[in-house]
Amino acid sequence: MTTQDTSEVPQDLVDAANTLLDWHWQETQVGGQAWQMAVASDPDAMLVDACERQDAGEEGVIDPFWATTWRAAAGLDQFIGELDLAGKRVLELGCGTGHVGIAAALRGASVILTDGVEDPLHLVRMSSYPVRDRCEIQRLRFGMDRLDERFPILLGSDVTYQRQLWPELIECIDQHLAPGGVVLLSDPCRIIGNEFREWIKAHPFSYVEHKVQMEDDPEHPIRVMELRRKGD
Ligand SMILES: C[S@@+](CC[C@H](N)C(=O)[O-])C[C@H]1O[C@@H](n2cnc3c(N)ncnc32)[C@H](O)[C@@H]1O
Repeated sequence: MTTQDTSEVPQDLVDAANTLLDWHWQETQVGGQAWQMAVASDPDAMLVDACERQDAGEEGVIDPFWATTWRAAAGLDQFIGELDLAGKRVLELGCGTGHVGIAAALRGASVILTDGVEDPLHLVRMSSYPVRDRCEIQRLRFGMDRLDERFPILLGSDVTYQRQLWPELIECIDQHLAPGGVVLLSDPCRIIGNEFREWIKAHPFSYVEHKVQMEDDPEHPIRVMELRRKGD
């Protein structure tokens, strides 16, 4: 088990996060152990602020959906606990606070955690510090940025929540999935997720659905969508 002492996180990482937002350490079950995650202190206020700025006509304001850790992340964390990730290269898309990518790293994977927004990446650098030898953290906007590598495993929790994102998400997946690789996307069984399931059928990916029952609320499982390139 990897141990974690938040006082070891370098001051320059803490200072960088402090200049951007209010945040705090929060103990969370990650990769089957209690883990200190650096999280935004007031995600709701950040969302209201973003909406007000958009309403006032400011352009380029992105909704800070990253600021909450979504339940879908805990579900995907639980799901990948059944896989053998030791030594595997993994790319996480839309990592937000980084729960899933850190869970994969704790299980021995070598992970690139990415998000389209820079702000959460500062928190991810702190949360992943004890497993930094297995974590790289980068900005990656679906359909806009491209890494010079393909991965056998792509992970994404709660990244199917907006219809407009789907074409770029699937483009990003296609650009980064190695032949024979698998994509695991989780969501809390939203209606929009059902629509994504139908939409993806028109694309060259096979689809298998899994349900992960969660201890906190067994009646509301998390869905894991397993995608593979047809013909692989
Ligand atoms: C609902 S949040 C989920 C965050 C995290 N995966 C979790 O489950 O806690 C969706 C994430 O997708 C990211 N995102 C949204 N649009 C994106 C895009 N075009 N490219 C990359 N990331 C994007 C957001 O910044 C946010 O972190």
